[in-house]
Amino acid sequence: MEWRLAFLFALLCLLSPAAGTVTPPIMDASHASITVSAQLQTTEPAGKSWVAPMASSWAADGAVSQPFSNFTGSVNDRGICQCAISLPDTTFPADRVERLEYTAYNLSQRFEAEFSKVKEYVQLISIYEKKLINLTVRVEVMEKDSISFAELDFELIKIEMKEIQKLIITLKDNFAGSSVIIDQLEVEIRNMTLLVEKLETLDKNNVLHIRKEIWALKNKLRECEKSKSELNAVPLPPPAPGSCSHGGVMNISKPSVVQLNWKGFSYKYGAWGRDYSPENPEKTLYWVAPLNTDARILEYYRLYNTLDDLLLYTYAKQYRIVYGQGGGIAVYKRNMYVNWYNTGNIAKVNLTDNTVAVTRNLPGAAYNNRFSYANVAWQDIDFAVDEQGLWVIYATEASTGNIVISKLNDTSLEVLNTWVTKQYKSSVSNAFMVCGVLYATRTLNTRTEEIFYYYDTNTGRQGNLAIIMPKMQEIIQSINYNPYDQKLYVYNDGYLLEYNLVFLQESQENV
Ligand SMILES: *[C@@H]1O[C@H](CO)[C@@H](O)[C@H](O)[C@H]1NC(C)=O
Ligand SMILES: *[C@@H]1O[C@H](CO)[C@@H](O)[C@H](O)[C@H]1NC(C)=O
Ligand SMILES: *[C@@H]1O[C@H](CO)[C@@H](O)[C@H](O)[C@H]1NC(C)=O
Ligand SMILES: *[C@@H]1O[C@H](CO)[C@@H](O)[C@H](O)[C@H]1NC(C)=O
Ligand SMILES: *[C@@H]1O[C@H](CO)[C@@H](O)[C@H](O)[C@H]1NC(C)=O
Ligand SMILES: *[C@@H]1O[C@H](CO)[C@@H](O)[C@H](O)[C@H]1NC(C)=O
Ligand SMILES: *[C@@H]1O[C@H](CO)[C@@H](O)[C@H](O)[C@H]1NC(C)=O
Repeated sequence: MEWRLAFLFALLCLLSPAAGTVTPPIMDASHASITVSAQLQTTEPAGKSWVAPMASSWAADGAVSQPFSNFTGSVNDRGICQCAISLPDTTFPADRVERLEYTAYNLSQRFEAEFSKVKEYVQLISIYEKKLINLTVRVEVMEKDSISFAELDFELIKIEMKEIQKLIITLKDNFAGSSVIIDQLEVEIRNMTLLVEKLETLDKNNVLHIRKEIWALKNKLRECEKSKSELNAVPLPPPAPGSCSHGGVMNISKPSVVQLNWKGFSYKYGAWGRDYSPENPEKTLYWVAPLNTDARILEYYRLYNTLDDLLLYTYAKQYRIVYGQGGGIAVYKRNMYVNWYNTGNIAKVNLTDNTVAVTRNLPGAAYNNRFSYANVAWQDIDFAVDEQGLWVIYATEASTGNIVISKLNDTSLEVLNTWVTKQYKSSVSNAFMVCGVLYATRTLNTRTEEIFYYYDTNTGRQGNLAIIMPKMQEIIQSINYNPYDQKLYVYNDGYLLEYNLVFLQESQENV
């Protein structure tokens, strides 16, 4: 085997415990010959020569080969000598050293590779860390900016479109695919759905204008449904507006979502409705009164002269009062009636100029969550309006928490008459009055309420009912009845819903 001296030095250097980096060994000729002759008895074996990378780079440094002595050697231009010697295989385990060196070299290479990978990872991690911080900041910003109405409205519209599509499908089934109108409506609805999707990608504010069209479509659908029931030979004209010539509430329609309240998604508590002024019943005035997020204080409310204005959130009159309490609000003859904050008093607010016209104590009425409704706080005192006028639904200690109904003089707020029921108020979810009859609801599950109890102040009769009342969200915060359109206006966790009541016809009553 032929060896280059330089390599051996390099090798020794590599194998020494302190070897961390490999540097080309430099030596002078005399020293080299002494070292070599002293250490190695050289012979002349045959074999391949192997040059370590460092050694070769050094040797390649302009070396001029020339015979020197018995050894094959050379001196480079800097006067540094290098020589090849031969050593016997038996004296020194050169091949093992060779393998060891190779492994060491290999290892150091691999270590370098791994180490640079680690450096890469560290860099990546710091990049990801920055990205994460950026994302966190952005999410926080999004959380602070409450979601815009426009976006929410799209959600609402999508819910409505789904509702309408379901309705159309049932209608179609009922007509057995024979009606041209239905087909036409279906096309229009599909068109509308596409439009909603397109608008969503374009201009988010246009959504408000579509609502009008949706409303028109819904009305067409209702007419369609009516004509269907006429076709089905059930010629039952609904009782005249404001009339009580019927046998009471028999059923209720599915809800239709009118809108999200004007304050937004987080205002889950409140009430809404349509004013009833018997002298001028067809004139519309809609009111929306979301409570503050404490679920207690009524501070701001809005009035709209038409349903279109309400749908478009336009031409609203906004007022502030200090303060109403709870969602037991009702509006009658352009006055709002509400429990006054932190008292057992009731107040009348003139909606023409937002003045508090009258406040008066409601005798015996429990308040401040003594006997509120189940799942709804601060509604110990709940006003109601029906064909006969203004009512208040509450409970007293004397009634042991059972519902008390009082008829009020809407001018003076004096109690005209009182009925005590056998229904515990805190176990019903809400209540409303129709033609002097109290109807109470209870919660069946997150999707359904039930009108389960009635008390008739005309006769003193009370009893149970089982009218299923579907809902969009979990909690019915309030219910208001309008005698002219005979609809229920329901505030359902911030969403404004309306329902049509179905009455038992006089002719059917005795069947
Ligand atoms: C050189 O080596 C040869 C054998 O390879 C030997 O016979 C000779 O004496 C050596 N010469 C010197 C100067 O050492
Ligand atoms: C040298 O490293 C490579 C991988 O980089 C490996 O495949 C090879 O077996 C190693 N050789 C020795 C002798 O360890
Ligand atoms: C987050 O990154 C985006 C782009 O990647 C950049 O426009 C924005 O300014 C960064 N925000 C912060 C808070 O670093
Ligand atoms: C769908 O809507 C577009 C634009 O609103 C209207 O031009 C088109 O006639 C409608 N198509 C049908 C079938 O109603
Ligand atoms: C009540 O109305 C619902 C929905 O309109 C209907 O599915 C149900 O059959 C009606 N119930 C009665 C007893 O008429
Ligand atoms: C409400 O206030 C207006 C304006 O002050 C007044 O004309 C109207 O008579 C009041 N209504 C009631 C019911 O007091
Ligand atoms: C209601 O109160 C007003 C004012 O006190 C009074 O003029 C009116 O007669 C009362 N109405 C009834 C039905 O008691």
